[in-house]
Amino acid sequence: RPVVLSGVRPTGALHLGNYFGAISNYVRMQDEYHCYFFIADLHSLTTHPDTKELREHVLSVTSYYLASGLDPDKSVLYCQSDLPQTTELYLFLNMLAYKGELEKTTTFKDKVKLQPENVNAGLLTYPVLMAADILIHRAQYVPVGKDQEQHLEMTRTFGNRFNHRYGEVFPEPKAFNYGQQLLKVPSLDGAGKMSKSENQYATIYLSDDDDLIRKKIMKAKTDAGPTEPNAVKPDYIVNIFDLMKLVSAPSVIEKYEADFNACTIRYGDLKKQLAEDMIQFIRPIRQKAKEIRENESALNIILKVGAQKAAESAENTMQLVRSAIGLKYF
Ligand code: TYM
Repeated sequence: RPVVLSGVRPTGALHLGNYFGAISNYVRMQDEYHCYFFIADLHSLTTHPDTKELREHVLSVTSYYLASGLDPDKSVLYCQSDLPQTTELYLFLNMLAYKGELEKTTTFKDKVKLQPENVNAGLLTYPVLMAADILIHRAQYVPVGKDQEQHLEMTRTFGNRFNHRYGEVFPEPKAFNYGQQLLKVPSLDGAGKMSKSENQYATIYLSDDDDLIRKKIMKAKTDAGPTEPNAVKPDYIVNIFDLMKLVSAPSVIEKYEADFNACTIRYGDLKKQLAEDMIQFIRPIRQKAKEIRENESALNIILKVGAQKAAESAENTMQLVRSAIGLKYF
């Protein structure tokens, strides 16, 4: 079976973007592919040097993985820092990654603006560590959101450079989404994608309680409504419909589309509908994750066993890598 790898940074609660862009695909893929899903704790050090809450966040992401339907008997679940082979591969790939191309990466340029006081080398080589995560299992498919597309492109570049210089070791990994197109879940403030942003009301977290979800959605930007039949929707209204497509029944969406086209839509009702459907969707995941989080010894075992399975695959790759480079002296 083709190999799949993906992961999430443990920098706080997971949000709808993480769920629909990535995790919902993981859950479907585990029945068809040989899957590795990990928690990218080393990556989080590039932006979150304070590690006080790191352990809690790692256990929380693991709980949400399980609550979303990941099954440790089907997928290998592990934590990045438990797999030292990744950091060894990262070192070799660093020799194949050029300063100029790393500096041009969109996420790097964004981070430089966000944390000018801490433009560390780890931030610059973030895509190299990500390539190592993927290539360490010689993965072919990587379920991610649209924002990771450039990193995937770079992974292919580094893998191909390795193959050309030292001999064929790595397949070309492809970004994957069951809906064909990689997804960008919009934020609620009408600007950009949902992310762990400063504007807490713009992002819905899987840990948000019912009232908070309602409050956030009711605050989403709208206007007085369309003034002519079959009008073009403004971006912020498109966003609300896009969020609805994730959680509401198609017949419900059709009704509001028709109301919009007939100029009879009431945005208050639209948002109420979205809020209730969102609550129905998030509530069971939130409740399940909370229960799972309480059984810490079970979580520890899952991550330990996962790390052992991941190490087998990683060690196989590293043997190929070390001999291809010519580092086996005896
Ligand atoms: P991270 O932790 O930022 O996000 C985890 C996953 O969620 C997706 N995502 C979104 N998808 C759609 N719409 C959104 N608004 C949205 N926001 C986030 C991301 O695309 C991602 O799939 N660099 C990665 C972590 C990583 C990784 C890897 C991923 C490290 N090594 C190897 C895949 C393979 C990241 O920062 O994701």
